[in-house]
Amino acid sequence: MINPYLPYPVRIEDIRDETEDRSLKTFRFVFVNSEDEENFEYRAGQFAELSVAGQGEIPIGIASSPVEKGFLKFTVNRAGVVTRYLHSMKPGDVMGIRGPLGNWYPWEAMKGKNILIVGGGFAFTTLRSSIIYLLDPANRSDYGNIDVVYGARSPGMLLYLDELAEWEKRDDMNMHITVDGTDDPNWQYHVGFVPPVVEENAPHGGPDTYAIVCGPPVMIKFTLPVLEKLGYSHDNIIMSLENRMKCGIGMCGRCNIGKEFVCKDGPVFTLAQLNQTPKEY
Ligand SMILES: Cc1cc2nc3c(=O)[nH]c(=O)nc-3n(C[C@H](O)[C@H](O)[C@H](O)COP(=O)(O)OP(=O)(O)OC[C@H]3O[C@@H](n4cnc5c(N)ncnc54)[C@H](O)[C@@H]3O)c2cc1C
Ligand code: FES
Repeated sequence: MINPYLPYPVRIEDIRDETEDRSLKTFRFVFVNSEDEENFEYRAGQFAELSVAGQGEIPIGIASSPVEKGFLKFTVNRAGVVTRYLHSMKPGDVMGIRGPLGNWYPWEAMKGKNILIVGGGFAFTTLRSSIIYLLDPANRSDYGNIDVVYGARSPGMLLYLDELAEWEKRDDMNMHITVDGTDDPNWQYHVGFVPPVVEENAPHGGPDTYAIVCGPPVMIKFTLPVLEKLGYSHDNIIMSLENRMKCGIGMCGRCNIGKEFVCKDGPVFTLAQLNQTPKEY
């Protein structure tokens, strides 16, 4: 039996600054032992514990997609002790990854349905994983229309610029990129907060349309009423929570809301499920 507390050793292959203020970096890892990659079979929406010797472990959403083989990607915001240390590490350094952990977006239930993805700030990481998964030629025809609304504070704070530019050009999805504000005269996309951009551009809800919403609490607070107004039922609004965590496997009781362990029963929940829990999320 595999010890769930034992991290797989991984080597940092590449580190990329994502944002102009250098607060977010994307780390590309390869498994030191190739057989560990087979054991680390994940779905879009899951997370892992990044384990740095002498510093600690932190839960981070998996930004790479299951259809991308040979590496894992995580985009990490510099927040405190472990993330600061991680930002100082270099390609070639070895550390650990424990996982994959938690549940994932309901890919089976969403088959044949339209999908609206709404993301803000650095919570866009597992949404990147999801978009790459949906657009993969092996999966694209399993799903209906895809709309993405993605917002950041400014153009320089948008993640994955090369991919955003590619997705913009595709005719099998609709991208709606927005920034809170910009003085860039060449900016060609929306200016304004995510909720009004959703209101003006997102498809109407109904039994055939799901919304996946992931972002800062204030974005979620103002986006949910817009989705309700557009006709999305609480069963079809999917959210991913980022509660404080420690073990990540339902053992320590650090992350629970009511009887749900966010690390094990989540982090993905429908709004209908969250309505049944104490308002701690
Ligand atoms: C399921 C899940 C997925 C996540 N995905 C990502 C991701 O893709 N990219 C990313 O950058 N971060 C992500 N986070 C948040 C990340 O885990 C925290 O930022 C990280 O644990 C902070 O560790 P630290 O040691 O650097 O900070 P600490 O020294 O522990 O704390 C520094 C600051 O960060 C705050 N903080 C600590 N933990 C959290 C948390 N869970 N949520 C919000 N604030 C926190 C503290 O209150 C403090 O203000 C995710 C969290 C969860 C639970
Ligand atoms: S983090 Fe330990 S139970 Fe969820």
